[in-house]
Amino acid sequence: MTHPYPRGRGVSSPEYGHCTDKLCRPLRDLRISVTDRCNLRCTYCMPREIFGREFIFLRHADLLSFEEIVRIARQGIALGVRKIRLSGGEPLLRRGVERLVEMLAPLCCEDGKPIELAMTSNATLLAKKARDLKNAGLSRLNISLDALDETIFRRMCGSRAAPIAAVLEGIAAAQAVGLTPVKINTVVKRGINEDEILPLVHHFRHTGVILRFIEFMDVGLSNGWRLGDVVTARDILAKINAEYPLRPLDPHCPGEVAKRWEFADGGGEIGVIASVSQAFCHECGRLRLSTDGKLYTCLFASEGVDLRDMLRARCDDNALCQRINAVWRERDDRYSQLRHAMTWNPAGKIEMSYIGG
Ligand code: GTP
Ligand code: 5AD
Ligand code: SF4
Ligand code: SF4
Repeated sequence: MTHPYPRGRGVSSPEYGHCTDKLCRPLRDLRISVTDRCNLRCTYCMPREIFGREFIFLRHADLLSFEEIVRIARQGIALGVRKIRLSGGEPLLRRGVERLVEMLAPLCCEDGKPIELAMTSNATLLAKKARDLKNAGLSRLNISLDALDETIFRRMCGSRAAPIAAVLEGIAAAQAVGLTPVKINTVVKRGINEDEILPLVHHFRHTGVILRFIEFMDVGLSNGWRLGDVVTARDILAKINAEYPLRPLDPHCPGEVAKRWEFADGGGEIGVIASVSQAFCHECGRLRLSTDGKLYTCLFASEGVDLRDMLRARCDDNALCQRINAVWRERDDRYSQLRHAMTWNPAGKIEMSYIGG
């Protein structure tokens, strides 16, 4: 396969921010996991057979403290980060997460603009917390919702999942306090919730909520992914377009994961996240910080670089910045693109050792 990128060597470039990786991609987003726990058991993320009663989650002492998270975030921003997203697990399960929001929200990029501070949540606990999150300085929320039908929702999100009503109340609360635009993430699995696409579109048109349909991905080792379970963005769009004609929209910024579309009749915007059929690694500027303080340069990375030990050994900010910089400069991940080459074009098969397992 020809190499799709110019062979940069992690140079600093004022044009692209401070820190670029081996494929010349600038560091732009920092995604921070604040807990490894969740109150749902989505089959594609934390299937109950693996994440059952016996599963051992991190102990509180293993988690980064809010102060430690903020120190890392500051150095990330010095290296070019403009958007911070709190995620998990379910971030609203982390006690006092509003205080973390309050600590991160005032941070500014070098040009003096405040960072964008967002959260991805399942919204089951949001109704009571939306106001406090807004007051603490959160910019906006992305919410997972895979179905409007209770039975299908439970099939996707675990048989003991909270009622959809709780999620819908959470969405309404987010809108009422101005945590907008609210985006909804709907993972589509063939034969399970694909018939929910149109009801979801129908429900959220004209509400200001932006629905995004996501191709089911092979993250982690436990979700039993098969290519045959993926409904491609093309099929999803064709289904919607047949009922509600769509027009493409320009991206807001480079590296955005969702391709944007609008309803031709003014009903609002939707998106598709085609991470399987149209990988977007070439623009990926996302660095991930795990709950216990490891940096991962790809959603599919199997190894992270620990920052917690150096923080707890009282390193100075300069050393922390250099470590993060070094991790990003050495990065050449592009898992989804390699997977695409392998699954859609088996003739161009790539060695697992090349992908990194
Ligand atoms: P905004 O577009 O700024 O609202 O955020 P986002 O879409 O980056 O955040 P969100 O957490 O809502 O991500 C939506 C979905 O996109 C995730 O659930 C993943 O399925 C997918 N996704 C996000 N980042 C990546 C990535 O780096 N690689 C891949 N393959 N998929 C990603
Ligand atoms: N494939 C696609 N999206 C996934 N998410 C979690 N697991 C997967 C997967 N296997 C998405 C959910 C949620 C976000 C945190 O990640 O939609 O919104
Ligand atoms: Fe994973 Fe989010 Fe589902 Fe929880 S709600 S299991 S974190 S996708
Ligand atoms: Fe980025 Fe890895 Fe996702 Fe590609 S697969 S977009 S490199 S996180």
